[in-house]
Amino acid sequence: MIKVENVSFHYKTSDMVLEDLNFQVHEGEIVTIVGENGSGKSTIGKLIAGILKLKKGNIIIDDLEVSKKSNNKEIRNKVGIVFQNPENQIIFNDIYDELSFALKGLEKQEIEKRIKRALEEVEMKDLKNKDLYNLSLGQKQRMMIAEVLTRNPKYIILDEPTTMIDSLGKEKIHTIIKNLKIQGYSIICITNLADEILLADRTLILDKGKIVAEIKKEDLVEKAEILKKYGIKIPTLLEIAVGLKEKRNLY
Ligand SMILES: Nc1ncnc2c1ncn2[C@@H]1O[C@H](COP(=O)(O)OP(=O)(O)OP(=O)(O)O)[C@@H](O)[C@H]1O
Ligand SMILES: [Mg+2]
Repeated sequence: MIKVENVSFHYKTSDMVLEDLNFQVHEGEIVTIVGENGSGKSTIGKLIAGILKLKKGNIIIDDLEVSKKSNNKEIRNKVGIVFQNPENQIIFNDIYDELSFALKGLEKQEIEKRIKRALEEVEMKDLKNKDLYNLSLGQKQRMMIAEVLTRNPKYIILDEPTTMIDSLGKEKIHTIIKNLKIQGYSIICITNLADEILLADRTLILDKGKIVAEIKKEDLVEKAEILKKYGIKIPTLLEIAVGLKEKRNLY
C-alpha cells in the first residue's frame, strides 16, 4: 500500500503547490488523479516516485519510507513512472539497450527474461529488434511502460500517458492498463482525459494542491456533478448514464 500522509510541497521558486495531501493506494487498485492544469498532479507523482525530494509529510510505500534522504534506486524498483511524452524519456535507439538500461548488474539470462516478459505485457514482443526511432508515438509509449516493467515494480504511475497518442494508440494503452491491474499491479493514472476516469477504481480530484473529492467507481453517476464543478470533462458513457438517471427521476 502507498500512504501519502500530510504531504505539502513547494518548488524553490513557487508558492505552495501541494497542501496537506492525504490518501492511500491499495494493492491491485487503479486510482486516477484528475485536476486542472497546475493543480499539482505531476508533482505528487514525482514525489511518490522519488524524483522530487519530500519536504513535509510522509510517503510510505509498503515497508519503505520515502524521506529527505531516501535512496532513489530503492524507490524506483518499487514505483515506476511514465510521463506524457515518450520522446523525452528514450535514451537509446536500440530497444534492447533501452530496456536493459536499468538492469545493469543482473545476469544476462535474467535481463532477457525480464525484457521478454515486459514486451509481452505491452503487446510488443514482435517488435523486439526494431529501432525505437521507427516506432509510432503510441508504440514508443508502450516501450516506456515496458521499461518500467523490467524493474519489477509493484506500483506504476502513469502521468498523462496517452495525452499525446492517437485514439487507436490510446485504446491499446488502456487495454494494457487493465491487464496490468489483472496481473496485480497497483496503478496511479494522472489524467485529464475523461475515458481514463472509467478505468479507475477510485478518482481523486486535486484542486489548487488539495484533494477536494474522492469518487469511487460505483458512485461516478451519482457524483458526476463534482467532476464538472472542478472543470473535469466527464466520459460520454457517464454523461449518458447521468442523463438516464435524471430522466428516470422526472417520471
Ligand atoms: N520545476 C518547477 N519549478 C517551479 N514551479 C513549478 C515547477 N514544476 C511545476 N511548478 C508549478 O507547480 C504547480 C503544479 O504543477 P504540476 O506540474 O504538478 O501540475 P499539473 O497538475 O501536473 O499540471 P498539468 O495538468 O499542466 O500537467 C504549477 O503552478 C506549476 O507552475
Ligand atoms: Mg502534469
